[in-house]
Amino acid sequence: MMRTRPLKVALLGCGVVGSEVARIMTTHADDLTARIGAPVELAGVAVRRPSKVREGIDPALITTDATALLKRGDIDVVVEVIGGIEPARTLITTAFENGASVVSANKALLAQDGAALHAAAERHGLDLYYEAAVAGAIPLVRPMRESLAGDKINRVMGIVNGTTNFILDKMDSTGAGYQEALDEATALGYAEADPTADVEGYDAAAKAAILAGIAFHTRVRLDDVYREGMTEVSASDFASAKRMGCTIKLLAILERAADGESVTARVHPAMIPLTHPLASVREAYNAVFVEAEAAGRLMFYGPGAGGSPTASAVLGDLVAVCRNKLAEATGPGESAYTQLPVSPMGEVVTRYHISLDVADKPGVLAQVATTFAEHGVSIDTVRQQGRPDGAGSEASLVVVTHRAPDAALTGTVEALRKLDTVRGVASIMRVEGE
Ligand code: NDP
Ligand code: HSE
Repeated sequence: MMRTRPLKVALLGCGVVGSEVARIMTTHADDLTARIGAPVELAGVAVRRPSKVREGIDPALITTDATALLKRGDIDVVVEVIGGIEPARTLITTAFENGASVVSANKALLAQDGAALHAAAERHGLDLYYEAAVAGAIPLVRPMRESLAGDKINRVMGIVNGTTNFILDKMDSTGAGYQEALDEATALGYAEADPTADVEGYDAAAKAAILAGIAFHTRVRLDDVYREGMTEVSASDFASAKRMGCTIKLLAILERAADGESVTARVHPAMIPLTHPLASVREAYNAVFVEAEAAGRLMFYGPGAGGSPTASAVLGDLVAVCRNKLAEATGPGESAYTQLPVSPMGEVVTRYHISLDVADKPGVLAQVATTFAEHGVSIDTVRQQGRPDGAGSEASLVVVTHRAPDAALTGTVEALRKLDTVRGVASIMRVEGE
C-alpha cells in the first residue's frame, strides 16, 4: 500500500554528482514514488557557497549549516556527496545519531573509515550504502555484497579510474606523451584541476580497498593497498608493450592467496595482452573482472565517473534504503568475519618486464642472467638491441620473467643497479592477465 507521508532526504553537497541527484529526484519523482512505495521529498541541500545559482533547486532548500539540517529530527535518508574526510565523516555520524540512513559516494572516506561508519550504522539500526563510491554507474558493490554472497570470490582485477584510463588510452592510440594526454583529459573535464589522486593511484587504491573488503569479507584499509601511480609510464613502455602484443593499464588487483589464509591488494600500471577484455576498455570507461569459485568469471563494464552516471548509482541506493526504511528493516552491513590479513607487496607473485641500459660488451648478458638466477627469478625472454640513438657502447636489454615474488624481483633490481655494466634501469613493469 502506498504511504502518503513522504520520506525526507537531506542532500549534502550539490556539485557534479549532487546536482544530478537533485535533478533526477525531481524529474523522476513519480517513478521513484511508485518504486519505493512512498514519495521522496528533498528536504534540504547543504553546500559551501549559498549564493551560487543552482538550476532546478528551490533556493529555500539551500543551507550552509549541514549539521542543523541533520538535527532537524525529520530526515529519513542523507545523501552525502561532498567528498573528502571532513566534514563528511562527522556529518555521516551525525546523520546516524539522528536516525537517518546514509547513501554516500565517498570512496576516500569509506576506504579510510568504513569499519567505524558501518559500526555506527549498525549501532543505530540504519543503512550505509555506497554503490557510487566504486566505478561510478557500474553496479558492482551490491552485486558483490548481495548477488555473490553465496559464492567465494578469489580474485578481482579491474580498471577503476576513468581519468587514468583515458590518459593511457590516448598515449597508446595516438602516441601522445603523458602531459599532452593529461591536458586533454583536463580539457574534457575528466581530470580535476589537481589530478594527483587520479594519476598517483590514490583514487583507485581507495576503490581497491573497498572492493577487497567486500570480496574477501575482511577489513582492508587504504594503507593496506600497495599503490603506484602512472606518471612514469612512457612512450617507450608502450612501444615495448606493443612488441609483446600488450597494452598498459592502471589496474587494481585483489587476490586471495592460494592457501586461502591471506589476501593482497594492489594498484599499479601493468602490461596486459591485447587479447584480454580489459585491453579493449577505452577512454574514461571502467571495467572490473570478478572471479568467483562457482560463478566463474564475471565482467562489469560501464561509465566509471561523471555526474549523471554516478547519480544513477546514488539513486539506486536511495531507492533501496527508502524501501528498507518503510519495511523497518536494514540491508546487509559490513561483513568482515574472515579477518584475513593483508600480505605485503613482496609476497605478490607475478611476471615482470624489465628494461635495462647496459654496456654493449662481451659477458654482460651472462652477468645479468646470473643476477636474476641468484635471486631465484627465472627469465622467460631476453631481447637485446643497440641503442636507437646510435650510442655504440650501450645496448638496451629487455628481460621478461616467469612468475616470481615481488620481493625477489626487488632484490634482483637492487643487485642489477650495483653492476658496473648496468648503466640504468629504464623501467620495471608487471605483466598481468595471461
Ligand atoms: P564537487 O566538488 O563537484 O561537489 C562537492 C559539493 O560539496 C559542492 O556542492 C560543495 O558546495 C559541497 N561542499 C563542499 N564542502 C562542503 C561543506 N563543508 N559543507 C557542505 N557542502 C560542502 O564533487 P563531486 O560531485 O564530483 O563528488 C562528490 C562525491 O562523489 C565525492 O566523494 C567523489 O569522490 C564522489 N564521486 C564523484 C564522481 C565524479 O565523477 N565526479 C564519481 C564517483 C564518485 P559548493 O557547490 O557550494 O561548492
Ligand atoms: N576521478 C575519478 C575517475 C572519478 O577518474 O575515475 C570517479 O571516481
